[in-house]
Amino acid sequence: MKTVQITTLGGPTSLELLDAPNPDAGSSTVLIDVHAAGIAFPEVLQSRGQYQVKPDLPFIPGAEVAGTVVSAPEDSGLAVGQRVAALPFLGAFAEQVACSPEAVFPIPDSLSFEAAAAIPFNYLTAHFALLRRGRLAAGESVLVHGAAGGVGSAAIQVAKAFGAGRVISVTSTPEKGAAAVAAGSDEYVLADGFRDAVKELTGGKGVDVVVDTVGGDRFTDSLRSLAANGRILVIGFTGGSIPEVKVNRLLLNNLDVVGVAWGAYATVRPGYLQGQWAELLPKIEAGGIVPLMGDVYPMEKVSDALIAIDERRAVGKLILGVRGSG
Ligand SMILES: NC(=O)c1ccc[n+]([C@@H]2O[C@H](COP(=O)([O-])OP(=O)(O)OC[C@H]3O[C@@H](n4cnc5c(N)ncnc54)[C@H](OP(=O)(O)O)[C@@H]3O)[C@@H](O)[C@H]2O)c1
Repeated sequence: MKTVQITTLGGPTSLELLDAPNPDAGSSTVLIDVHAAGIAFPEVLQSRGQYQVKPDLPFIPGAEVAGTVVSAPEDSGLAVGQRVAALPFLGAFAEQVACSPEAVFPIPDSLSFEAAAAIPFNYLTAHFALLRRGRLAAGESVLVHGAAGGVGSAAIQVAKAFGAGRVISVTSTPEKGAAAVAAGSDEYVLADGFRDAVKELTGGKGVDVVVDTVGGDRFTDSLRSLAANGRILVIGFTGGSIPEVKVNRLLLNNLDVVGVAWGAYATVRPGYLQGQWAELLPKIEAGGIVPLMGDVYPMEKVSDALIAIDERRAVGKLILGVRGSG
């Protein structure tokens, strides 16, 4: 089968299109014909050996797919030919992938494979971050950094779909701000000077929850943007540096800095991913969750996608088109 592989840790330009044997599904995993795969920031980090998961070289990256079931364990409840999304966590940039039934999710016919491939990684992360770790309550306000990106745009929609009040996005450009609003944000503010803008928009009160995918030197201003009893969700560090916290800021206003490691949590709890999907599916079917789609790249152009993410040009979720749409 055709695959994209990381053979050296030379960064986004070093991915190679190579043939490889089809995966052996065995009796316990689901074999899937991949139609589309989601591309995300971690693949940029993996191409440089900078991600927390460091497989031996060479390996096939890609965490999530949408496609059709080729074979499935009898007790999985999945049928040959069924349309599914799945989270193999690795191996998705290929024409076929094998995945634990725990992480295979039936999708509605109304959802294209491209849109379905945009959902698992980002929306399950956002769901875990906001609801489990962030304890989002009905009507609470949410500030989302990197809001036109994959996790950010998912966080906007999950927040809204699960009862948040006002959602304010932070983006580096007006174009990305408009994309965040199109994804469902009530408004956007520019990253430069966001603290003052949030203060003004909230009448000085601040927001209840900050979704932080960026880290870096914004962190202190994010803490200052929280209302009393607010929570900041530490999700990623696309800004490049890991912030430090003066904990007196937490004490003064009863603030929480909350770590979010969705994969580490979900993969050791059988049934957790399926439970998350069961909560998201009605929102997908009702149209409350419609991924903000970026460009679709053919397999031979995968490096262009990673470069776009690396250079901060990506808007919405980038997709690898493996077998065309459907
Ligand atoms: N903790 C978890 O469980 C978990 C799960 C999934 C992903 N993640 C992490 O979440 C983060 C976001 O992933 P993603 O797939 O949403 O990425 P993405 O689609 O590329 O979006 C990231 C956003 O970060 C902002 N950004 C700020 N500084 C940047 C820089 N120097 N370079 C690139 N982007 C920059 C950009 O928005 P602006 O230009 O508007 O600022 C961009 O839209 C990554 O760090 C990823 O590893 C964590």
